[in-house]
Amino acid sequence: MKRSVQESAAARVVAWQAAHGRNHLPWQQTRDPYRVWLSEIMLQQTQVATVLDYYTRFLARFPDVQALAEAPQDEVLGLWSGLGYYTRARNLHRCAQQVVAEHGGVFPRTAEVLATLPGIGRSTAGAIAAFCFSERVPILDANVRRVLTRLLGFDADLAQARNERLLWEQAQELLPRDDLDSAMPRYTQGLMDLGAALCTPRAPQCSKCPLHEDCKAFRDGDPQRYPVKTRKLSRKAEAWQLLVLKNAQGQAWLQKRPPSGIWAGMHCVPVFADHADLQRCVAALGPASGLAVNELQPFVHVLTHRDLHLHPVLVSGAVLEKPLEEGAWFGAHQWGAVGLPAPIRKLLDATMARP
Ligand code: ADE
Repeated sequence: MKRSVQESAAARVVAWQAAHGRNHLPWQQTRDPYRVWLSEIMLQQTQVATVLDYYTRFLARFPDVQALAEAPQDEVLGLWSGLGYYTRARNLHRCAQQVVAEHGGVFPRTAEVLATLPGIGRSTAGAIAAFCFSERVPILDANVRRVLTRLLGFDADLAQARNERLLWEQAQELLPRDDLDSAMPRYTQGLMDLGAALCTPRAPQCSKCPLHEDCKAFRDGDPQRYPVKTRKLSRKAEAWQLLVLKNAQGQAWLQKRPPSGIWAGMHCVPVFADHADLQRCVAALGPASGLAVNELQPFVHVLTHRDLHLHPVLVSGAVLEKPLEEGAWFGAHQWGAVGLPAPIRKLLDATMARP
């Protein structure tokens, strides 16, 4: 693409963003990197509409990076409950601690240094640096990847690192060159907004797009071909037996998950790899006469790389005060304060309410 076309493309994204983009989201009303960072992490795998409430609640409890760094992990995970992808929350907490310990509580001002922090990849680092400091750096999240591969007709396989690198270089070339202080935040937001509103995976609205005259994919009539990426996620399935222990007060027995792996650091009902292990555990809980054992409806919870087939067994009645070595009883009012994975929360809500 010629330099003059590149420059006018950037200018058109900027003008389109001002007229048609999103300009009233709460994290757009600030250049405080703490707030922008928090929003970008929340928005990584979650839609704007869902993020809004979480963002407000999170900031009310943790108004600055210091407050977040000092918080117990359980509280951070508790406030994150329901947003999913909990690695984000653990990294968020670690990142805040690192900003305090290694950067004097002040976020670094360049994408290069931001990208050294936990949970901040190259694209998130670019977004923070462009939004807060108007640094002339590109972003390449899934939406922007789609916009740019279509615009450029970039059909090399992005599963290969070399092609991914080439696309980053081209994204850099397309950046605005003038008036960076206002142009960089607007351009960055404009590409995100185009990807979300017009340049969608299916049925893109090319006639409304400010870039369609220069768009190679539009000219060729096949925007949906882009982006090209061959490698598919390898998905695995796993079955978990869940022991839902309920005492006479309607409390649930919860254990903290190990520090790594699925739902790391969150609270969960006891998990068994197979049914026989769970049954042995139940048999050891006390005389069968005093316990009610009910197999509940199994369900599937989909994670990024795995389908979890969850098989809950509800055990209630004359349960011991301390039925298992590890864990504790938690009443419904405490479930919100510790991190509970959303499907476990739902399971408890559905089973504990009943007498
Ligand atoms: N997704 C990621 N970052 C975003 C932002 N700043 N605004 C809207 N959606 C986003």
